[in-house]
Order: sequence, then structure tokens, then C-alpha cells
Amino acid sequence: MQLQAVKPINPGINMINTSVFDASLNASSLSKAAFKKIQTFFQQQSGIFISEHKQQLVIARLRSHMLALGFKEFDSYSTYLINKANRDERAHVVDLLTTNETYFFREPNHFTYLANTIVPSVNHRPLRVWCAAASSGEEPYSLAMALHDKLGSTGWELTASDISVRMLETAEQGLYRMQRLEFMPPEYLKKYCRKGVGPYEGMFMVAPELRKQVNFVHHNLLESAANLGQFDIIFVRNVLIYFDSDVKNQVLQNLYAQLRPGGWLVTSHSESLNGLDLPLKLVRPSIYRRT
Ligand SMILES: C[S@@+](CC[C@H](N)C(=O)[O-])C[C@H]1O[C@@H](n2cnc3c(N)ncnc32)[C@H](O)[C@@H]1O
Repeated sequence: MQLQAVKPINPGINMINTSVFDASLNASSLSKAAFKKIQTFFQQQSGIFISEHKQQLVIARLRSHMLALGFKEFDSYSTYLINKANRDERAHVVDLLTTNETYFFREPNHFTYLANTIVPSVNHRPLRVWCAAASSGEEPYSLAMALHDKLGSTGWELTASDISVRMLETAEQGLYRMQRLEFMPPEYLKKYCRKGVGPYEGMFMVAPELRKQVNFVHHNLLESAANLGQFDIIFVRNVLIYFDSDVKNQVLQNLYAQLRPGGWLVTSHSESLNGLDLPLKLVRPSIYRRT
């Protein structure tokens, strides 16, 4: 589709072809019925409920994808999504709608507690760690750095999972903009990061020897994780906040089933397990232990 430029009314501002303008106008509004279909779809797939006031967010995240597929408005697209979309299309929409904000060494006291308290108190090896909402990789690589620094390259295993295939692909690459380094401890920067040159100027890469120690897998927290085995430590941070209490309960039952007796479950400081009936003891704010 080509935008037709006509005489500029202001320097630097071009008018656009009217028919294209009409199409994008339709794609900029979302009827109640279409919103409801997308809301239901996303909740069934990910467990996340998008509230009514997030209509603009849904439009912003899905609009260009919908137009690229040839749909001009959300009514027909949402019907297609619910009734006809194939597996790849459904996974792509889940990718587009998930919120993936993350950064290296987010909530840093969790990494200190891991290194200074948890690692020394577990006496079997390998220590098995699961990062259960890994997003674009900053969290699992922060864990890998802390574990490697403490234990070296053996004696630990790290599984990192997410529902978003796009995020997992980014995570596996381990390539980030320099701005992402803000909270990285300088000694880890030196030890575990490689500066990009040439086309990678302004970027850094997590050292290959560390990257290969992280096992990235696609996993939906709504489902059983029995195939991943048992873990000593599960990090599940900044994702429970998106679930309602029933879904949160289900997700935590699934996680609990994979936690070894005496194992640790770490949430974010903004999340709470209050009111959930699980034999987990709060040992520090946001750090729980299986009794
Ligand atoms: C806000 S990010 C948090 C990333 C990281 N844990 C942190 O604390 O920085 C939330 C992540 O949870 C993932 N997610 C959302 N619903 C999920 C589900 N049902 N199963 C697995 N991952 C999910 C999203 O794709 C996203 O990458």
C-alpha cells in the first residue's frame, strides 16, 4: 500500500490519501463486542485479564498487525481470531498483547539472597533453578551471572521459560543495547558481557559460555510443568500481578508442584500470596519457602 503525497500544508507535513485515512480510522476504534472477543481470547490463552480501560492499548498493540493481514477493522479481525486463526496467529497475538518489561538485576536483593543465603544452604548439586517468566532474558542472565559467580560453571542448572515465543528468541540471542546495563554490577559487566563492534556498536552480548548454560523453553504458566522436573528455586516475578485470584491460585499450584521440599519461591515485592492456601512460609518479603 502506497501513501500518496499531496501538496504540503506545513513544511514537513504531508497530507495522506483519503482512502488510506478512512481505513486507519476504522482500525483506530474498537467496538465493545470486538474488545470482548479479544479480551476473552487473551484470558483463555494466558490467564491475563485486560480491563476495559485498556482499549487503546489493545488497539496500539494489534492495529498494524491486523492491517498487515488485510483486515480493516477489529470486528472482522476479532471474529477471525476466535474462529479461524491458526496456532501461529494465536501465538503471535499473545506475543503482541503480553507486557514484557524487564531489566538486569531488577529487585537486586533477591540476587544477593540467592548468592549469600540460598546457594550455601542447599547441599546437593546440581542446584536446579527455574526462571518462570523470563521475558527477553535479562532476569535469567542475571540469575546465571549470580550463580556462575558463586559456583563456577558446574553444580547448577537454569531453566528459563515464557509464554512469548518472540521474547524467548530475543532472550536466546542475549544481545542488548548498552542502555540495558544500567543496574548491572560492574564486576559482572567485565566478567560476563562482550562489547559489540561494527554493526553491533552500542550493544553488548552476554558471554557465550554463560548463554549456553541457560535452557530456554516455551511454557505457559497455566499448564502443568511436570516435564521440567523439580527445582530448588523458582523465580516468578512481575507476572502474578496480571492474574486474577483464581488464575493466580492455579499458577501457584502448578509452580508448587515443581518445588522441592525446602525449596524457595521468589515473587516480586509488588506481589502477594496472601489468601492462597499453600504450605509456603514467608522467610523475607517476597521470598517464600516450601515447608
Ligand atoms: C513484566 S514481564 C516480567 C519479566 C521478569 N520476570 C521480570 O521480573 O523482570 C512478564 C512476563 O510474563 C510472561 N507471561 C505472561 N503470561 C504468562 C503465562 N501465562 N505463562 C508464561 N509466561 C507468561 C510475559 O510474556 C512476560 O514476558
